Amino acid sequence: MRLLYLVWLNAKPLRPLCDRLMLRLFNSWAAGWDAHTEGHGVDRLAALNAGLDAVDARDASPSRVVDLGCGTGAGTRMLAERYPRAWVTGVDSSPEMIAAATRNGASAGSSARFTVGRLQDVDLDDESVDLVVLLNAPPAFDEIERLLTPGGTVVIAASRGSSTAFYSGEQRLARGFRRYGVSTVAAGSAPPGEFYVGAKR
Ligand SMILES: C[S@@+](CC[C@H](N)C(=O)[O-])C[C@H]1O[C@@H](n2cnc3c(N)ncnc32)[C@H](O)[C@@H]1O
Repeated sequence: MRLLYLVWLNAKPLRPLCDRLMLRLFNSWAAGWDAHTEGHGVDRLAALNAGLDAVDARDASPSRVVDLGCGTGAGTRMLAERYPRAWVTGVDSSPEMIAAATRNGASAGSSARFTVGRLQDVDLDDESVDLVVLLNAPPAFDEIERLLTPGGTVVIAASRGSSTAFYSGEQRLARGFRRYGVSTVAAGSAPPGEFYVGAKR
């Protein structure tokens, strides 16, 4: 998966092939995904929460929030609880993941919504999202910038830090965002997890 991620990130022409392979894998993993991640013995949401603390310190109070690559929806449900007045939606290319996220959300009584879609071409208007979140998911820098409102923030969290399959360190993320006018406002860790927070000018 790590190799697939690096190709996806660095060789855009090969993205469709990587997407097909990842879709097949994540569809097949959806049923056991939560048990699999719990098996790592790490609080999956700790690094994301630490990144959101940095967002909240900016007094951002987002009203539209998107969780890209939401999987079974653990992060999306947490976002809906943390920002109860916000419209919160999770997007994932795997229909099996979205089916699990929808079931999990319904049984938890969550207000989060879920939709099938690719994170590099999300079916939302330009500059319509105040907070974009990626938890253990691959960042499409240009699409994140397109979605963000001016002044909006992005949080990228890797629950297991550099052991996370979809991991890019602070420098790599800062470089990726720089040419799209998104600058670093915070980065840090909730060991072993790491987070990055950027803001669109
Ligand atoms: C490692 S899982 C993380 C899931 C969840 N955020 C979590 O932390 O439990 C990565 C997720 O990204 C999704 N994904 C991968 N590539 C994607 C793409 N191009 N568009 C949308 N979702 C994608 C996968 O289907 C998978 O659910």
